[in-house]
Amino acid sequence: MKTVTCTAPVNIAVIKYWGKRDTDLILPTNSSISVTLSQDILHSKTTISTSPDFSQDRLWLNGIEEDITKNKRMHNCFRETRAIRKEMEGKAELSGSPIEKRSTYPVHVCSENNFPTAAGLASSASGLAALVYTLAQLYELTISTSELSRIARQGSGSACRSLFGGFVAWEMGQKDDGSDSLAVQIAPESHWPELEAVICVVSDAKKGTSSTAGMQSTIKTSPLMNERINHVVPARMEQMTKAILDKDFQSFAELTMRDSNQFHAVCLDTYPPIFYLNDTSRAIIQLVHEYNATSQDGKLKAAYTYDAGPNAVIYAPKENMAEIIQLIGHYFPSDKESTAFFADPYQLVNGTLGQDFIPKTNVNFNQNIIPVQPVNSVSRLLHTKVDDGPRVLDAEESLLKADGLPKRLA
Ligand code: ADE
Repeated sequence: MKTVTCTAPVNIAVIKYWGKRDTDLILPTNSSISVTLSQDILHSKTTISTSPDFSQDRLWLNGIEEDITKNKRMHNCFRETRAIRKEMEGKAELSGSPIEKRSTYPVHVCSENNFPTAAGLASSASGLAALVYTLAQLYELTISTSELSRIARQGSGSACRSLFGGFVAWEMGQKDDGSDSLAVQIAPESHWPELEAVICVVSDAKKGTSSTAGMQSTIKTSPLMNERINHVVPARMEQMTKAILDKDFQSFAELTMRDSNQFHAVCLDTYPPIFYLNDTSRAIIQLVHEYNATSQDGKLKAAYTYDAGPNAVIYAPKENMAEIIQLIGHYFPSDKESTAFFADPYQLVNGTLGQDFIPKTNVNFNQNIIPVQPVNSVSRLLHTKVDDGPRVLDAEESLLKADGLPKRLA
């Protein structure tokens, strides 16, 4: 039996992916750019064992066994990685030094996210990236990360970007077979260490429209979408790449907020409309704009972005982070213990946050721009940073036992 365990990170797009030109191959209607967030805070962890003694492929997701045959997207990833392994096995045999025929063995996959799947924190991106990266280690594939991203893309579009750390572009490609639709690294995580992020987990009882259904509906019905994919995004891809390479927070922040806003605008332009933002999301947008308006030199201090859900991700230079977290803590109070509400692995903020907290900002802030919001409108704050791509873990981190069955079930 061969067993490998890996983790993969979450990525949050600053130029948004929305729209598929091919739903089977998962080919997008526009290119996108994302930032990879630290696995210390959010990750998917996957163990895969393979053995000729297993009777069939099996999958456990967050401690519950799932029917792997029903998971078409995962199947795409197995098929593609096994095909490459099979080719390697054929070549090895011809050269007279055969390798194990792992491409023919069943696999046991056990995966868990260290955050609730339903929190809307891009778990399919990190989950499918962890799956494909672990398969590549298991089969000892020698292909490049960009080639591997082409396979991850067929599991979940945005998963292709989670195979790299730092700043990542998913180039949409032009070909019908998808061979040129893959991820490339714009800059590694070491490039812009001052850039950090805070995730505001926004409570939302309702389950929104699924991304897959929403995207197709937008393509079919939104006239604004044509403008976005043909004119707006191509120009922004160049501008955002330059902003990242130049570490130009002013351009990065404005493009990030404008692109998030346009993504939600094409959702509103979809007929019938799709809503992902809620009152709390909109209050955070207002707060960030008001905070930016306090800037003495006209420079932006923070940028929000929202995916297909109400959670905010705020990107900002490290020097502004304590102030931002204090402001959020004041306007979005929590009844939890400070340490349960706020995850601060980098020890940024001293003292407490919450309802009674008065922000000690250096800025002349209009305290009444928004009222203090109902308690627990924001359920958690996670402070994080730009970090690396998937990691291979030691054998003791395995989620599977020596018999190939999970160590823990839900
Ligand atoms: N979808 C959501 N989380 C996942 C995971 N960890 N692995 C595979 N698919 C997922």
